[in-house]
Parts: sequence; structure tokens; C-alpha cells
Amino acid sequence: MSGKVHLERDGAVAVLVIDNPPVNAGSAAVRRALLARIAEVEADPALTAGVLIGAGKSFIAGSDLREFDLPLADPQLPQVIAALEGSAKRWVAALHGAALGGGYELALGADARIAAPGTVLGLPECGLGIIPGAGGTQKLPRLVGRSRAIALICGGTRVGAAEALELGMIDALAAGDLRAEAVALALASGKRRAIERDVPEEPGAEIEAAARKAAAKGRQRPHILEAIAQVRAVGQQPAAEGLAAERAAFEHLRLQPEARALRHIFFAEREASRGAATGGTPGPIRGFGVLGAGTMGAGIALAALQAGYPVVLVDSDPAALDRARKRIGDEIGRSAVAGRLTGEAAEAARAALTLTDEMARLGEADVLIEAVIEDLEVKRQVFARLDSVAKPGALLATNTSYLDIDPIAAATGRPEAVVGLHFFSPAHVMKLLEVVPGRSSSSEAVATGLAVARALGKQPVQAGNAFGFIGNRIYAAYRAASEFLLEEGALPQEVDAALEGFGLAMGPFAVADLSGLDIAWRMRQQQAPQRDPRARYVEIPDLLCAAGRLGRKTGAGYYRYDEAGKRQPDPAAEALIAEARARKGVIPRVLAPEEIRSRVLAALVNEAGLVLEEGVAARPGDVDVVLVNGYGFPRWTGGPLHWAGQQDPARLAADCARAVADFGPQKKAADLAGLRILASADKA
Ligand code: NAI
Repeated sequence: MSGKVHLERDGAVAVLVIDNPPVNAGSAAVRRALLARIAEVEADPALTAGVLIGAGKSFIAGSDLREFDLPLADPQLPQVIAALEGSAKRWVAALHGAALGGGYELALGADARIAAPGTVLGLPECGLGIIPGAGGTQKLPRLVGRSRAIALICGGTRVGAAEALELGMIDALAAGDLRAEAVALALASGKRRAIERDVPEEPGAEIEAAARKAAAKGRQRPHILEAIAQVRAVGQQPAAEGLAAERAAFEHLRLQPEARALRHIFFAEREASRGAATGGTPGPIRGFGVLGAGTMGAGIALAALQAGYPVVLVDSDPAALDRARKRIGDEIGRSAVAGRLTGEAAEAARAALTLTDEMARLGEADVLIEAVIEDLEVKRQVFARLDSVAKPGALLATNTSYLDIDPIAAATGRPEAVVGLHFFSPAHVMKLLEVVPGRSSSSEAVATGLAVARALGKQPVQAGNAFGFIGNRIYAAYRAASEFLLEEGALPQEVDAALEGFGLAMGPFAVADLSGLDIAWRMRQQQAPQRDPRARYVEIPDLLCAAGRLGRKTGAGYYRYDEAGKRQPDPAAEALIAEARARKGVIPRVLAPEEIRSRVLAALVNEAGLVLEEGVAARPGDVDVVLVNGYGFPRWTGGPLHWAGQQDPARLAADCARAVADFGPQKKAADLAGLRILASADKA
């Protein structure tokens, strides 16, 4: 029964070793074992103090979230912590690896905390739609002050050991052997409970400012506001009342739809990172070669440099190389100023970049990523050259947005080494990476593609080799549905406001202006001969482009941009929209925000259903991970398909039928009930 926690003796000090591989996640079994061991130590007069330490690579990296959908089994974490605090003996938490969430709360129950260098600590609960529920909100403010605690808890910030020491989150940094130093610390003087400490004095205005900032950053979500309220109340009431109020709020939030949605996306991301489990072993990743130093190539190079890899960046245009050198240098400088890179790491990143027009230099790299212009013939020529310079075993990847991977792979003598790696712009910031196997890609190449994502700190999702892969395909339907609304009478700012009100980071027309309207324009011109004449075609974007309104870069698109770069509604754009309506004889009408949301989201959900039916996405969770990480879909909804599953099925089915009809008779309806995205009609 106590197998998850071993009791070892070091003289008069009990060392409790928590052993629940792989990361010592706090589960019911761990809590039971801890409670039993603490009681054993308490009852043994030969033991005067105790140390809590993790076996393997970590302290407790967090709670076992699989338990969170059900009533939590006893003993619960507050009981374990109360046993530590109620113990007559002195307890020290010895931290290494990760001490997060319930793990750090357990450590806060000890009388002192010591961490090995490199330990990550924090209370990330807010990222999961809940608040710390075992004393975190009540004790952290006593160690670091209320305003700091608000920022750390609401931001779910992971803090490194050195900073944690500076802030007061830990009492000591281990210089050598963590366990031995913790034992020595346990032998020092008596009890010092965090919950009994006074809250540091702070000007009220500072606390208010921290609260406002955290609420805005956390988009006023209920759990963020709750965390702020809990921290604010610390010291204003007896400690026991504070702990009870925190627990009650945690219990309430844990079972709310928002927390369930955030757990869904957490597990979906983990599953997506494993890909489709083809069993391949990834090849080595010691250095990157990037071909094409434009927007994407420079961003990808930057991502690799910031992750600590050497990069050879090749472009045939010397001006492009110059621009990339400047942009990468500036960005590394900014990262250093912002503290994302240490001065040393920034220096190393600069030194690790080679800019050249010689393709032969790409022979040094294990992973080659092509990001030249979106033209199949150019890409085929480039891959034929890559084949002749790449070392055996190298991964050959294309960052194409829409092109078929197979003819690109066929331009080489080693199509098995070719995959799509679809990054998002800006590539050094955006988390998402679609990994696209072609027909001939080996399982090793796919595994290496997934490993590239891990190496660069990205979230991979495996996608089928079909037009637009998962994300751009679904986004195109979403954007088309938004354009239909313009044609019927809505204004760009109304559509954007309705969708931003739903929680999207940016509405579709603000996004279009940001990325530029010309790329899609060119694509529509290319596709014009194959266009199905039955498909509804909205001319508004073509009219904007023809008028030179290509978006932000030309100062105007769906909006105009003021000197500060802020978007403003533009009567000139509205006149073009009115002209397009008039040409089709449309009499504009007012569209309410609810109608805008329901129609656009239904179009998105239907397309996501088609993507699943066609096998372009393997799992509904993969679609959710793509839209949340690459397209600003609100994380707290769990992504579009999780969201769809929470809606009234009859109503969403009707919305989807309407959305499909909007596109014209050629549009397919996804079988959302058959896909189990909607509860079937008889259950509804
Ligand atoms: P870009 O036009 O900014 O950069 C392309 C670069 O490739 C230019 O610097 C050009 O000089 C260079 N280049 C062209 N032919 C070359 C050759 N034969 N050898 C060496 N260098 C050559 O284009 P961008 O936007 O960076 O796009 C690159 C690729 O990434 C395209 O396939 C695009 O579809 C894809 N992509 C673009 C995204 C975006 O938001 N811009 C997002 C995701 C993918």
C-alpha cells in the first residue's frame, strides 16, 4: 500500500522517496502512500525530521489529470499537506526536475524547500481552467507577496530554480547533492509553516494593477477572476477559512465545461505529439539547413537557432540574405532583452548561423527544410538539387502550404526521406507544426518530423497529404462563410467583432489584412478554370485587391490602418462591398452577432467533419489542436469539435445544413452524427 513512497533512513531523518514513474504524478495511490508514511515517521521516536524527494527524473510534476473528471478519491491532497503541517517534526521538500501544481503545493506544506539547479516550479493550474486547490493561492502570496502571486498563478508561470530562490518560492538552491543537503536542512531548527507567515506589505495600488493586468491577460475567464479573488483575500480571514474557500472554488471549477475543455485539449496535444504511431525511429537532429530566406525560411531558421541548433540558411537572392540576417539578428537581440535568451545563448545563436547562396553547404545538416516560393516546378527543381547535396539519412522537408508532397518527393532519388513540415507564420513564435507524410515517406522520416517539432518546442499534428492539409483547408471554409456574410449585409468589423466576442484571437478579416490579400487572390486566379460554376463565389476580395487594397502592407484592405497601425472601419472598403452586393442584386440586411457566429462556426465544423471523413485528420482531437494552436481558436472551448460536442445537437445540425447550403449544391455535408461529433438525432 505504501509502495509508491519508500521510507529510507538517514540517521534521525526519514527520507520519503516518491516513486510513481514516469514523472511522479500525484495520484490517489501516491496520496495514500504519503499519508501512511508521514504517520509512520510521526509515530517513530527515532526519527526527528523528514525529507520529501522524488525518485527518477523529477519531484511531483503535477496531479494525475485523469482523476479530475470524477469525484476525487480520499485522501485528498489537502489532507496530506495538513498531515505535514500538523506533524511535530520538521519537513523539507527536496525538489528536482519539475515541482508543479499539486507537486509545488505539497512542497509548500513543508517547513523548507530546497531545489536542484534546473528545477522548474510553479502553479500552472490556471492553464487548465481551475485554480490551485491545495493551498497554493493561500501560501504563495505569503512567500512572494500578493501582486507577484497573482501574476505567477494567473499566468501559470513556470519559474526556474534560481529565480524561485530570488522570489522566495524556495529557501535554498542545492550546491551539490540535493538529498544530502536536504537532510542537513531537515536537521536545522524547527517548524516554519508557510500558511502561518505574514503576507508581505504592499501598496494596494500595486496589487490592483497586478489584478487588472492578469484579468486582461487571462481574458476575464472565471477561473482567472477566482484566482485573483482568492489571493486578494489572503490575510483578511483566518487561514483555515481561506483554505476552505480555495478548495470549494477549485472543486466547483474542476467540473465546469471550461475546465473539461482545457483537459480535453491538454490530452489531445499529448496524443497529437505521438503522431499516428508508425513505429519509426527518428534520425539524428544535430543541425538544420533551410532553403529560402524569406518570411518563412528566416522564421524557421530563427526557431532552430533559439532552440540551440546550428543553421545553414541558403537563398539565391543576396538581398533576401541581407534582410534575413538583419531580421534574425534583431529578433535574437529582442529575445535577449526580454530575457527569453541569456546573453550567452544569444551570442551562441548568432554564431551558429551561416548565411550563404551555396546549396552545397546544406550537406552539413541532418534536417533540410525548403521554404522557397509556392510553385511546384520551382520546388521540384530545388528538391532535385537538394538530393544531390544532402547527406545520406537526412530528412528532406517542404514547408509548402497547399502543394502535393508526392511530386515534390518524386523529384528526388529518395522519396522515402521527404515529408511536409508546415510551419505557421511567424515561424519562430507559432506553436503549431503540421507533419505531412507523402505516399512514399518512411516511418523514420515521419518520426523525425515529429521529433523536429519537439526539438523546436512546437506542437506537432500529423496531417494527410491533401489540399490545405488540416488547418488551411478548414480555415478556407471558415473564411468563405465569413465572406458570404459580407455579401448579405454584414460589415467586416461586425463579423470580426462577433467572432472575437466568441473568443477568436482575431476575426477573419483582420487576419486577412495581416497576412495580405494577394496570395489568396493569385490562387483564385490560378484556380479559376477549375472552379465549379455552381459554387457561390464572393467577389469582394477580388475588388479590394484590384483597388490595390492588399491589407496592412498597403495601409488598407478590409480596414484602413492609422499611424499607430490600429485598424479602423473604412468607408472606401464598405463602398466596394456595396458595389459587389449591387452587382449580384443583393439587398443588404442586418446580421446579428449570433447569426454571424452560428453560421461561420457551423461552416467550420462541417469542414472539420469532412477532413475527418477523408482521413486528412486521424482524430477529432487533432483538428482541435490545429485550430487552437495555429488559428487562434479559443483554447477554453477545447477546439471546434469539442465545442461542437457541447452544443445542442439538433440546433447545430440545422446550422450545419444551412452552412452547407450556403456554399452551393456542390458542397458535401459531413456526417457529424456518424463521426460522433454530434450526438445522433435519436439521442438528441
Ligand atoms: P517568400 O517569398 O517570403 O520567400 C521565398 C524565398 O525563397 C525568397 O527569399 C526567394 O529569394 C527564395 N528562393 C526562391 N527560389 C529559390 C531557389 N531556387 N533557391 C534558393 N532560394 C530561392 O515566401 P514565404 O512566404 O516565406 O513562403 C515560402 C514557402 O512557405 C511557400 O511554400 C509558402 O507557401 C510557405 N508558407 C508560407 C506561409 C506564410 O504565411 N507566408 C505560411 C506557411 C507556409
